[in-house]
Amino acid sequence: VSDNGAWGVFYLRGSLSLENVTFHGNRLGSLPPLAQDPKPLYLDPSQPVNARVEDLLSRMTIEEKAAQLDIVDGEWLREHFKVFSYLLEEPGVGSVLPRFFAIGGPEGAAELINKFQRFTLEHTRLGIPLLIGTDCPLGASVWGGTIFPCGLGMASTWNPELIRKVGEVIAKESRAMGVHQTYSPVLDITRDPRWGRVEETFGEDPYLASVMGVAMIRGLQGESLNTNHTLIATPKHFAGYGRVLGGRNGAFESVSERELREIYLRPFKAAIKEGGAKSVMAAYSEVNGVPAVASRWLLTGVLREEWGFDGFVVTDWECIEDLHRAFRVAATYDDAIEQALTAGADLHMLTHLDSPMDFQERLTNLVRSGRLPEDMLDEAVRRILRIKFELGLFENPFVSPKKADEVVGSEEHKKLALQVARESLVLLRNEGSVLPLSRNVSSIAFIDLNDDVEAMMGWGYDWNREGVTVLEGIKSKVSDEKVHVLNSWDFKEKLEESLRMINQSDVAIVVAGEPGHWTGESWPGHERDRASLSLPKYQLEIIQAIHENTKTPLVVVVLSGRPLAISWLAEHVPAILWAWKPGLKGGMAIADVLFGDYNPSGRLPISFPHTVGQVPVFYNYHNYTRRTRYIDAPKEPLFEFGYGLSYTEFNYSNLTITPRKVRIGEGVKVCVDVENVGNLEGAEVVQVYLRDVVASVVRPVKELVAFKKVTLSPGEKATVCFLLTPDKLSLLNREMKRVVEPGTFKVMIGSSSKDIRLTGSFEVVGSP
Ligand code: BGC
Repeated sequence: VSDNGAWGVFYLRGSLSLENVTFHGNRLGSLPPLAQDPKPLYLDPSQPVNARVEDLLSRMTIEEKAAQLDIVDGEWLREHFKVFSYLLEEPGVGSVLPRFFAIGGPEGAAELINKFQRFTLEHTRLGIPLLIGTDCPLGASVWGGTIFPCGLGMASTWNPELIRKVGEVIAKESRAMGVHQTYSPVLDITRDPRWGRVEETFGEDPYLASVMGVAMIRGLQGESLNTNHTLIATPKHFAGYGRVLGGRNGAFESVSERELREIYLRPFKAAIKEGGAKSVMAAYSEVNGVPAVASRWLLTGVLREEWGFDGFVVTDWECIEDLHRAFRVAATYDDAIEQALTAGADLHMLTHLDSPMDFQERLTNLVRSGRLPEDMLDEAVRRILRIKFELGLFENPFVSPKKADEVVGSEEHKKLALQVARESLVLLRNEGSVLPLSRNVSSIAFIDLNDDVEAMMGWGYDWNREGVTVLEGIKSKVSDEKVHVLNSWDFKEKLEESLRMINQSDVAIVVAGEPGHWTGESWPGHERDRASLSLPKYQLEIIQAIHENTKTPLVVVVLSGRPLAISWLAEHVPAILWAWKPGLKGGMAIADVLFGDYNPSGRLPISFPHTVGQVPVFYNYHNYTRRTRYIDAPKEPLFEFGYGLSYTEFNYSNLTITPRKVRIGEGVKVCVDVENVGNLEGAEVVQVYLRDVVASVVRPVKELVAFKKVTLSPGEKATVCFLLTPDKLSLLNREMKRVVEPGTFKVMIGSSSKDIRLTGSFEVVGSP
């Protein structure tokens, strides 16, 4: 059976039992001569990384180099190792992408990775260890991994320090299993909640996403990669992927350079320049008419030359193939590879086309035939090897499975998951202070329309189903007999009885929202994008029936990976708590908020429309986008960016701006007093927005430029100060140069993008 034959048969007929099939021979026919040098320089850890890279590179064949730029699917290796192990044999492979969903816990995952590493080291001439990369955006992707809230939930905390700790835990748990690279954080800006991947993002604002992204990357990467607890971060999807047409995944259009730089590139720039991310994932999307993975302007010009990125670019899944297959900017797969390498892509994610070897073989031939210069290949290989040395892989290719078991899902990590979940919850309404509930309630009607571990865990559900439900959370606060549970079946079959029961209860708590699998990444047969943004119809009908037929105070908790159009709820339901997908400890965190053990502090990182037809609706729209009213809908969002209630209240006073006049290149200090004037301790997110009053190009009506979350006891007052550095005042002028222009800047400070409490201004003088 030839390589290609084996692939064709086994991949297409994956249900065959392959236990007794052995693949004979290595991919080159016979191994090239082994290195004669007993102790080559590249294996000497006392040598500088660059010298080790050059030494190793000088010993490599073109096949070995091409192999370093390829990723093999860890699932093939896990399921059918005997068949696919040849992919790890000489000339080796650069990286393996395992997804551990189906295997037995962290110990098993670590054993498996050790097995891949050992096999690679034993069956390749130069013994280059594998780079193990996978998606760990919410936590280590393994049964038992600590699962944090989805991206929108993390962003709702407005607490970068907390998100840095999340990064640390994700790194600790993943590295303990032998993973080196996470394909995260997701730094796509999106203004379209119809898109299923909205849940993965930090929302609509480039500044908030930048701050959260940098915090996450610092947590993931730590001070050094040569540890047993840090990971390479891979901000994705570079770039413009979140700007999907009609909310449909993979439906793209060109985006102008100005919009790209002002909105979509900003979090990536911060990720590289401030976060020091070591990798970046090239997106599926199209940028200015050129697919991202083929854009030399993007992958080399902006990323490396402008921002000084010194890591490697990994492509998204089959992105290179798509240049030919989907985008039709390459006449053949060979052209596609040539374009991607020339643009600056380094590591190729997976071939599912002609054979698993397709990419490497084509790349080798392109270099042999002189179509691609070997120097270009060398440069990409250097970037991968450098990281492998920086990770200390040549010295420590293996991990301890026992240790992995101890580290993953530890109590300390779960505590952090609980805190992040608490801070991710956004209280949207609390008329008549229905919340918090007293523990002394004598009866609770609990209506379960979506109290489901999948809705709680999001994508993490694929590998961890231990999540705490809301009902479990509530039952940890009050005794079981006080809680009467109803579900949609009760309303269908026993409506009268159900309503009577609710009428007799002190409070009705409905858990509603989207099933977990309504958001996430969409592909054919696995749809996650929506054309509507309503609550499932039966849920709304049940909530309306409760509202119309009972007098019981009503609380609706919504679990959803996207903002929904909930105008009716917003008008009629006194208490609404928005929970996104809050992760492993979500149900407990929700109960903490419902019973006042945690005072909600989450703020929306994305606007909520009244109706789907308003999309895109976002706060930082341009001057002159007058947004005249629709005939049938308001112009403003239902809940705006930055919005969220607390059980206490905060007063703002004493805004000071110093100096009031600055020269170009100087910064401004803005301070404000914030006082907790309620009866409970609580956290306020103080938000600073800026408007460049007159500029050479059209500017947004306001832009978030700074924020701070402050926790205050009742009666406590704090002075919160922000430094508005020149970059926060800058814009891209008509020549696309980043400058600060003279003129007036309006400062708006408040509790949301709409709830502005104090305003002031300062002047910038000088010439740009
Ligand atoms: C997604 C990426 C992900 C990759 C590997 C792709 O389809 O777009 O976000 O990292 O799969 O799982």
